[in-house]
Amino acid sequence: MKTRSPLIVANWKLNGGTDLICTSVASFLRQKFRVQIGIAPPYVYISNMANFLRNSQIMVGSQNVSKFESGAFTGETSAQMLKEVGCQFCLIGHSERRQVFLENNASCHTKVASTLAAGLMPIICIGENAQQHELGLTKHILYRQLQESLLGQNIKNKQIAIAYEPIWAIGSGKAATPESVQDVHEYIFNELCTIFDEESAKNIRIIYGGSVNKNNAAQLLAMPNVDGLLVGGASLDPEHFSEICALANQITPEVEFNS
Ligand code: PGA
Repeated sequence: MKTRSPLIVANWKLNGGTDLICTSVASFLRQKFRVQIGIAPPYVYISNMANFLRNSQIMVGSQNVSKFESGAFTGETSAQMLKEVGCQFCLIGHSERRQVFLENNASCHTKVASTLAAGLMPIICIGENAQQHELGLTKHILYRQLQESLLGQNIKNKQIAIAYEPIWAIGSGKAATPESVQDVHEYIFNELCTIFDEESAKNIRIIYGGSVNKNNAAQLLAMPNVDGLLVGGASLDPEHFSEICALANQITPEVEFNS
């Protein structure tokens, strides 16, 4: 049985607006969930959304964070600022940030440190591209991403999560098979045991992202090392996303979790 409460996160990317916020909030406030749910809208909506969801269990997060704390860095938003407006978690190193905005493991390391220092939960996104996948380099790529973004981080009494998102599965309609996700998540868990220690690793949720929808969510969540899901496209339809959350809820026993 899983000992970590599943974490289901919506990544709206550069989508959504006031209408989607209203319909999403309305649909979430109607329901009760045992799983932990997070929504990452574009920066400008975080404050508004956090206010709407203040008395709910739904977390609001950001899709990125600056590696700087303050100063002459036009266009940047710091972890502390995000915290101040009600943000509770930050996606870090999403493959679109790595590919389009040239982020790398070193910048992820700095961002994880500043996010932790601000008291926010970093969700570190890692994953291989199609070519690396075909060449059988997945674990090699993940090893470097994990080592270079996590080594030396102080996670004592902090929440962090890892999102495994194979790049070839994102937005392609072709999710990785539950068995292959299980294999990779088990590898990630073992690496986290080495980077930190087993006790700490057990508290880190490892979630899967890449073409998740209501038809594949339950099978993915049934895998022993899959602690949740990161949902892109399907999260833009509040009903569809609620159904995924409801599926996660169904497989979550009615017990109190540590995290
Ligand atoms: P997708 O995106 O669900 O649309 O594949 C997932 C993500 O990029 O986080």
